[in-house]
Parts: sequence; C-alpha cells; structure tokens
Amino acid sequence: MTVRHFLADDDLSPAEQAEVLALAARLKTDRFAERPLAGPQTVALLFDKPSTRTRVSFSVGVADLGGTPLVIDAAGSQLGRGEPVADTARVLGRQTAAVVWRTFAQSDLQEMAAHAGVPVVNSLTDAYHPCQILADLQTVAEHKGELAGLTLAYVGDGANNMAHSYALGGATAGLHVRIGTPASDLPDPAVVARAQAVAATTGGSVTVTSDAVEAVSGADVVATDTWISMGQEGQEFERFRPFSLTSGLLAAAKPDAIVLHCLPAYRGKEIDAAVLDGPQSVVWDEAENRLHAQKALLVWLLEKSR
Ligand code: CP
Ligand code: NVA
Repeated sequence: MTVRHFLADDDLSPAEQAEVLALAARLKTDRFAERPLAGPQTVALLFDKPSTRTRVSFSVGVADLGGTPLVIDAAGSQLGRGEPVADTARVLGRQTAAVVWRTFAQSDLQEMAAHAGVPVVNSLTDAYHPCQILADLQTVAEHKGELAGLTLAYVGDGANNMAHSYALGGATAGLHVRIGTPASDLPDPAVVARAQAVAATTGGSVTVTSDAVEAVSGADVVATDTWISMGQEGQEFERFRPFSLTSGLLAAAKPDAIVLHCLPAYRGKEIDAAVLDGPQSVVWDEAENRLHAQKALLVWLLEKSR
C-alpha cells in the first residue's frame, strides 16, 4: 500500500489536482455524497498555531464524511512538551485514519508523514498553505468558469507560505502567477524554480516583480495575505505598504477581476476595507470552500491510500 500525503501543493499532479477540485465541486452541491469515514473513524487535527477557518472546516468536514474529528492543541499534548514527532506519528497512525497538522517547520511535517502510516495533510506550515490554495482554486473556477490560462496576481509578503503555495498550486492549475513583493521579501528561489518547472508542463507561468502595478496589471484574480504571519508578531511591516491592495491598485487589474484573501484580514494594511468588503471580493466563498475542498482532498487521499 502506498500512503498518499499532501505536504505541499505539488504533491498533487495537475491531473490529480483537477480530480480533487471536481470532487470538491460535487461535494458542494451534494454535501453528504461521500462517507469514507463512516464507522466512525477518527481524524486527528493538530494545531501548533491559532486557527479559526482551518479548525472549523476540517472539524465539520470530517463529521460530514461520517468520521470523528479529534482536535489536539500543542499546549494540551506531549508534542508541545517535546515528545519526538516520529513517536507521536506512530501513536496517531495506529488509531486514526489521517493526521492533519498546522505547525512551523515543514521538516517536522515530513517526519510525521514518514512515520504515521496514514495520510498526513499540511494545514499550514511556515513554508506552505496548500489546503487554502485548493479552496482558492475552487473559488476561482466557480467565478471564472476555468483555471488554466488565467492570471493570478499575489501582492504582499512574497516570502511567506501563501506566496509559495500560490506559485506551486497555481502553476499546477495552469495559471499565470505573478508575485509582487519588495526585493527584501522574495519567495524561496527553490520553490519558484519548482513552480516554474510545473508551469512548463501546464502552460502556466510564475514570475516575481517588485512593482505592484506590474504584478496586478490586467490580472483576472488579485490575492493578498497578512504582512505579519503567525510567529512573526512584532516585526516591522511598512515596507509592504506599496503592495497594499487598495482600490487604486485593484484598478490596474481587469474590470471583472475577483479578489481573494485567505483571512484573517487586516483592513487598512494589506487590503483596504473598500476592497475586502467591496463587489469584487469573493473572500466568503473562498472561506466556505475550505470545507468542500478539504473534504474532497481527504476522500481522495483515503481512496488512493487503500
Ligand atoms: N485562512 C486560514 O487558514 O485561516 P485560519 O488561520 O483561521 O485557519
Ligand atoms: N501567512 C499567514 C496565513 C494565515 C492563514 C500566516 O502564516 O499566518
């Protein structure tokens, strides 16, 4: 048996990502169509960082699939007191159907996957937020009717998990991904190279610029994220100000461009209230789609890991 994991966006091939997104669309219209966890089986949901959307959508999603969600916060587990990841993985893998983990280091997530023996899902690390990008792609497909060939501009912190996942997941979907970020906050070159290699197979592209208007110009989708990610509290952020998603910057995109933000949002910083709460914003669809996209992902991973 080969156990499939979702640790980074490019763990799904373009064809596999399309399968998951198609299932997500079906589950949105027929919420209880898939019950692979009926029994019920348990899915462990581990959180080493705060969460609202991820906690709710995975908890509700596991229940929708017939299973029992088990939320474990770092403060209440031995993992939080330094028990080795591999030991935790062996314990969880013998009793649960899957492990979903929000943590800091990607290497810890990889260690979990190496020892769990059940599917492991990245629900945000410092490096990637791939479940968010599945929901974002579902949202774009709903509003634009297609994915491949569209231009998605991401403006803000280019060195964070969302920038990396937009590059990788967007390239997988055949999007033209443009990252607009200060020269001091460029995405990891290795991730950009990986995303460009994927884009070469899908007809997409990945580019990085330090000119916000150039990034957004003519885009179909404009996305941003907080300037201060979890774990970076207290850091200076005014260097991102030219990349703030204001009405003026949004005007450089196509007139029918849609706006994404994974949330939580900080109005007046990375995005203006007029944009976040305005007619082009689809952020509440995006937040809801976490539920459908992650359910589809779990169904798919469990099916492939049988
Ligand atoms: N977008 C997102 O992951 O939100 P939470 O941090 O609330 O889970
Ligand atoms: N980049 C943000 C995403 C929050 C969902 C963070 O890591 O805090």
